[in-house]
Amino acid sequence: MNIVLLGAPGAGKGTQAEKMIEEWGIPHISTGDILRSSVQEGTPLGLQAKEYMDAGELVPDLVVIGLVKSRLGEPDADKGFILDGFPRTEAQAEALDEALAEMEKRIDAAISIDVDRDVIVERLTARRTCRDCGKIYSLINDPPADPAKCDECGGELHQRDDDTEATVRNRLEVYDRSTAPLVDYYRSKGVLHVLSGDRPVDAVFDDVRRIVEG
Ligand code: AP5
Repeated sequence: MNIVLLGAPGAGKGTQAEKMIEEWGIPHISTGDILRSSVQEGTPLGLQAKEYMDAGELVPDLVVIGLVKSRLGEPDADKGFILDGFPRTEAQAEALDEALAEMEKRIDAAISIDVDRDVIVERLTARRTCRDCGKIYSLINDPPADPAKCDECGGELHQRDDDTEATVRNRLEVYDRSTAPLVDYYRSKGVLHVLSGDRPVDAVFDDVRRIVEG
């Protein structure tokens, strides 16, 4: 199944993707993760992306579209994929549809996770991520045994540079302006499912399971 996860920053896209990978082993394509790795490695792409990401702005469409097209061409994406954080603009959504049409594929489901804005700010400032395995924690809802260490692999937990309150608020404005219209884009294609993300992770995942397993 080819799935797009939509939702504001902090809605829980990455958390649900982790559970989907565990359950169905579908490749997870997160443009945020790809860009953050490039920043960490200091590649030319990372150097270009960093200033946009730190400000909570979108990296230019052409850059991100190129990244996703090449990732979708890898053999593991043949059995389906979860796109997380892409598309984020109408130009990206159209480019995705064109690229998939060339591969005789389509998006089967766009799952939009809705969460109240104040909850999002609280969630993101409390998020910690493992530098080694990428596991996502919440100091409020899903705290690690040791706040500095990953329960799974022992890696260092860190706070993302763009999870400060001011940057989170700008990311939310950018979402409303550029990404929220994609809900209508996918509704018009008849593949949209809207879920409330203001519930425990497993309750949200029960709904995801119903969508994926039909
Ligand atoms: P990206 O990495 O895609 O970030 P985002 O979309 O802002 O989403 P987040 O990763 O912040 O949140 P999430 O929804 O995955 O929430 P999570 O599951 O972690 O993008 C970062 C930047 O990269 C962008 O600003 C942009 O600059 C650039 N970029 C990326 N893609 C781009 C593109 N396509 N075009 C242009 N630029 C691009 O959960 C958050 C917290 O809440 C965690 O602590 C978690 O434990 C907790 N939580 C999750 N679910 C629940 C729940 N149900 N109940 C309680 N707590 C929960």
